[in-house]
Amino acid sequence: MKCFFLTTAIDYANGSPHLGHAYEKILADAVVRSKRLEGVPCHFLTGLDEHGQKVQETAERLGRDPQLLCDGTAEEFKSMCGHMKIAYDDYVRTTEPRHKKVVQDILRLLSEKEEIYKAAYCGLYSVRAERFVQEKDRINGRWPEDFGEVVELREENYFFRLSKYQDWLVDFLQKNSDFIYPAYRQKQVLEFLKEPLNDLCISRPKSRLRWGIELPIDRDYVTYVWFDALINYISAVGYGTENFTNFWPADVQVIGKDILAPAHAVYWPIMLHAIGLPPPRRLLVHGWWLAKGGAKMSKSEGNAIRPMDYADAYGPDAFRYFVLREMNVGQDSNFSHALFVARYRSDLANDLGNLLSRLMSMLDRYCGGIVPLPEVCDDPEKELKALAEEVIGKVRKHCEAYDFSGALEEVLSLVRAGNRYLECREPWKLAKGGPAAQKILRACLGNGAECLRIGAELLFPAMPAAAEKMLSQLGAERIGDWLALAWGDSLTGRKIGERTILFPPIEEEGDALSPLPA
Ligand code: ME8
Ligand code: MG
Repeated sequence: MKCFFLTTAIDYANGSPHLGHAYEKILADAVVRSKRLEGVPCHFLTGLDEHGQKVQETAERLGRDPQLLCDGTAEEFKSMCGHMKIAYDDYVRTTEPRHKKVVQDILRLLSEKEEIYKAAYCGLYSVRAERFVQEKDRINGRWPEDFGEVVELREENYFFRLSKYQDWLVDFLQKNSDFIYPAYRQKQVLEFLKEPLNDLCISRPKSRLRWGIELPIDRDYVTYVWFDALINYISAVGYGTENFTNFWPADVQVIGKDILAPAHAVYWPIMLHAIGLPPPRRLLVHGWWLAKGGAKMSKSEGNAIRPMDYADAYGPDAFRYFVLREMNVGQDSNFSHALFVARYRSDLANDLGNLLSRLMSMLDRYCGGIVPLPEVCDDPEKELKALAEEVIGKVRKHCEAYDFSGALEEVLSLVRAGNRYLECREPWKLAKGGPAAQKILRACLGNGAECLRIGAELLFPAMPAAAEKMLSQLGAERIGDWLALAWGDSLTGRKIGERTILFPPIEEEGDALSPLPA
């Protein structure tokens, strides 16, 4: 049976994971976790892009074997995923035999179909972007920053007949207006396609680049790194085998805006079309994390935040919460330590942490650690329950639309309503009253606990570990099924668990951790 197949970009192996890498995988993980909560079987693929000039150069500079360098980097990226609770199902590395074989099979197939030809090319080449560039790429007469050094180069190479499919692609994009999310990016791609496409140079002579997949049709060449890398999305799920139809077409391919055009919006659908496969169903394109001053955070800028430092200092859930709450998918967002601290204090330590710790201490003190029935006494209980049910519906809709910021804002509004409810009922005062007050006190703590239980179930895609801990403190078992999630009395009679502080206060002020050296 076809599952919901989600991929992320595969990260370049020439550096350590930074905030942009962590964010993309966390976003993908949240999509998959929310799908699973809707009962949808999923397959989550991520991986590492190991070939190409940059990796070869880094290895040479460090005097290391490129494969050993990549082995180390792969461990680093996987360990980042582990720490961040990014629960991928498969991690593909482009140096794996399963991947190389498919790349070579596809090159052979395309060559047999005469979709590939050899020709001489003389042009301008960007070392950093690893591609030939054109005069029209200049901005105000200068090459864009991310091109690095641009040099003149002449060589014989193999070309893929990209231009032949330009009309097909335009037609496809016009007929499938929801192919790219957000939609305005699809319009940008159509704009880009108003200029004629050139055929794509897909080889590099070994004299210039050795670190790549050898062309099966000419041993003097290796495969251009983008042509190699894009194929990971199908090599990892058994292209050429029977199983493949359980995965392809991918349902969502998560990428950053810098690799949309031409790589994912032009090369990729055309490559697939040329080998007789349909394009993915959707490209989910996120924006950039920007450092202070508005520059893109990246290895080459040396202004990257090390996500692991945040996970170590404040826990992976706080970090996940911050990036998912702060960024509107599609737009750019600023990262600063001050913003992180402010969010942590207001939403996690204060709103969420307070609700949990007040409930835990009062359930312990007034109810012998047993959760009472969430009885309805009057309007405050009715209102809290109505709000919780409304929030369940809204969170599900937001997640469906990749709007995790909106989803988290909704959950926090429920948490704040829970705190206001306690303040309105004042259980600490009821505790001093007679039997009627005691009855309301118990109902109040039952309702408060149910409110937090619902909140925790809804926080799961963003904060899997913290949600689990909150539920176990409440004595609840996670149901992990949003179709069955409703206000109820499943906590009644449960013994609360060990009380721990989930989000301890941050003492320091200002920018203590930022920026970190890359
Ligand atoms: O592009 N903010 O690898 P990569 C948000 N190997 N996202 C960012 C970011 C930032 N500051 N910096 C990078 C590659 N990213 C290729 C992909 S896919 C077949 C090959 C995102 O390590 C970037 O947009 O440079 C991309 O989606 C991912 O991190 C990997 O970037
Ligand atoms: Mg990059």
